[in-house]
Order: sequence, then C-alpha cells, then structure tokens
Amino acid sequence: MIRDSRSIVIVTGGAGFVGSELVRQLAARGDRVVIIDNLVNGSRANVAEVLSDRVVLVEADIRDLDAVKPYLAKARIVFHLAVLGVRHSVHSPYENHDVNATATLRLLEASRDLGVPRFVYVSSSEVYGTAKWAPMTEDHPTFPCTVYGASKLAGECYTRAYYTTYHYPTVIVRPFNTYGPRSHHEGDSGEVVPKFLLRCMADRPLIVFGDGTQTRDFQFVSDTAAGIILAGEHPAAIGQTFNLGSGSELTINELAELRIGALVTALKDGQVAELGHAVVHLDAEEVHGERQVAELRTEARLDHRAEGQVLRRLGFQPGLRATPLDDGDTAVVLEARRKAVRRRTTLEDRRRRVGSAQRIARILRARLEAGGFRKELLE
Ligand SMILES: NC(=O)c1ccc[n+]([C@@H]2O[C@H](COP(=O)([O-])OP(=O)(O)OC[C@H]3O[C@@H](n4cnc5c(N)ncnc54)[C@H](O)[C@@H]3O)[C@@H](O)[C@H]2O)c1
Repeated sequence: MIRDSRSIVIVTGGAGFVGSELVRQLAARGDRVVIIDNLVNGSRANVAEVLSDRVVLVEADIRDLDAVKPYLAKARIVFHLAVLGVRHSVHSPYENHDVNATATLRLLEASRDLGVPRFVYVSSSEVYGTAKWAPMTEDHPTFPCTVYGASKLAGECYTRAYYTTYHYPTVIVRPFNTYGPRSHHEGDSGEVVPKFLLRCMADRPLIVFGDGTQTRDFQFVSDTAAGIILAGEHPAAIGQTFNLGSGSELTINELAELRIGALVTALKDGQVAELGHAVVHLDAEEVHGERQVAELRTEARLDHRAEGQVLRRLGFQPGLRATPLDDGDTAVVLEARRKAVRRRTTLEDRRRRVGSAQRIARILRARLEAGGFRKELLE
C-alpha cells in the first residue's frame, strides 16, 4: 500500500462539540478531513462554515463499517471521538457500551486491517471515577463510577491492547471537562457551563445540586483540540496515554458565584450585579425521581483536576486561556445567547424536563414563602 496516497484525516464524532473544534484546527492548517458522524448529538451547523472540497461530512454510524471502510483505506490518521454521553449511559447502558466500546474495537480492527498508520482514541477523565488524589496523574487508578466511564475505559483498553499485541501505533488522550462554543446545554449531553450561562442570561437562579464543593478542571475547547492533535501526531506519543486538562480546579460554587456571574455581568454592562445571591442549592432527592438522581450522581465526583506534565513534556502549552473561565470568554456567552434554538429531543426527555422543572419551581416557591429568595429571581 502506498503511504503517500493516504492524505485523509478522519474525525469520528467531528460534528460534535470537541470534534467540530478539532476539525476547525485541522482545516485551518490545510488538512483534508473526513468527518464521520451520524448526527445523533452533533449537527451539520457545527461544521457548516468549514465544509469544502477538502473538508467533508459523511453522515454515517461508526458501527456501519461498510460505510466507514472506504475512508479508512485512504486515511493517514483516525481521531476517534464519536461517543454517547454519561447521562445517556444511565438510561441506555447497552447502546452506550455498543457505541463507545464495541464500535471502538471494530474501528481499531478495521483501521489496522486497512493499514491506517495512526489511531488516536479520545478517552475521558471519567475513566478515573472519584479522585483518590488530585491533581490526577496518568497512573491514578481507573475506577469508573458510570457505565459511560466503564465503556470509555474499555475503549482505552482495546486501544492499548492493539499497541501491545500488534504493535499497531495508537495513542490515548484523556481530556478533562471542556467548555466553549458549540457545547451542549440540554438533554443527555448538557454541560454545566452552558446551562449556567443560559440561566444567567435569563436572570434565573442557578441550580446547584448538593453543596457545590465538588471541583472540576475546566479547559477551553481550543486547548483541548490542540492537545489532541499534538498528542495524536507526535512521534514520541505512540503507545502512550495522556491527561489533557488545564491543571487548575474550580468548585461548582465558584463557577456559579464568581466566574459565570462575572462573565455575564460584563456582557450585560453590569446589570446583573448580584448573581451570587441567585445560586440555589438543592438536594437531588428532593427534586428528582430515582433515575434522574442516578444521572445526577454521575456529576458528583470530587476534585477532578489533571496533572498534565506528560503531554507538556511533548510541547503542549495550554493557556489560550490562562485561568479557566477568566478573561472574558465572550465567544461562550454569545454562543449561549444563540442557543434559543431548541435541540431535537425525545418526547421522554421533554416529559422528564417538564416534570423536574415543575418540582424545582414548587421547591423554590416554598423557600420563597419561607423568606429565602427575591421573588423576581424565581420567575
Ligand atoms: N466535552 C467534554 O467535556 C469531554 C471531556 C472528556 C472527554 N471527552 C471526549 O471527547 C469526545 C467528544 O466529546 P463531545 O463532548 O464533543 O461529545 P459530543 O456528543 O458533542 O460529540 C460526539 C459526537 O459523536 C456523534 N456520534 C454519537 N454516536 C455516533 C455513532 N454511532 N456514529 C457516528 N457518530 C456518533 C454525535 O453525533 C456527536 O456529534 C468524546 O470521546 C468524549 O468522551 C469530552
């Protein structure tokens, strides 16, 4: 097989949040990119402005190898990001495993079979489960607490096994929490930063489940994508596993009371002066049914913070944003404003959201009556 004919970079899940930024960075340096995405959670709009004769979107399921193989035959590298998320794993564990783990194994085998020179598996800090120490180094025990985390760990194990068994050149990257434009604000993939931003923009109180002292390592999406490319392509990275995070941590309370408030206040010319008072702590059990409590439990791990020295030694320099959520991430906020367009969701999702919104409203009203909140914040 002639290596030089392999000019394509494949990005599975390239129409999603992180994938679409990865595609942007690859396109900006002139790569030929094939995005493989079934658009279950991603969208054509996420990549529309970069599609061209050099960047194409193939609407296909990664489980459908007949659709994927013709591109693998011409690929020089696969960045594998396609995924079903953590909340999806709570209500659909088999399908979650099927896409995140089994399809990864099948994609590895097809890539090796067709001679793709490099396979990059984008894993997740979820493989660690609850932190036993922070910052978390790559050799921190992997003890996933969710089916999603378990399926991502299985994907990692298969990827590593292809390197150790067949000497197939693979790389594993473990991003921590990522935020930025095109992140999801609702449904199975809804993330805390866009959710908080949208509620701030609407002058609604921010709902924090539990005491809010759990921490996260938030990294801006352009840093995450740049780290994936660097680790994925570096000659010394083959066979290795890399953490990819900012290395600093923020509690959910700090996020709610300081950072988000500051961002939105700046954008609204100081009109939202007292956001700190509009943070409401709720007990998940008080609001939600059993299944949703299980979903929320997936968000309650403590002290997730990356130790990213291994990747830094290869030259990775995060810090397009020096401090997480600092220095006016206007792109994120403006994006939140545009999120008026509702995403396609299942009827069941909608019913669940309406149900919990009503319960939250009831609890907030009761607290208002007890003198806890300013009325206008609850409407
Ligand atoms: N967002 C984060 O904070 C974060 C943190 C750690 C790791 N990651 C990892 O980064 C990767 C991307 O995550 P994201 O946040 O961009 O998620 P996302 O949901 O935005 O993107 C995933 C994409 O995969 C696509 N997809 C799902 N099932 C598919 C299938 N069967 N066939 C083809 N495409 C399919 C979806 O349509 C979507 O576009 C994932 O592997 C995830 O585990 C993300």
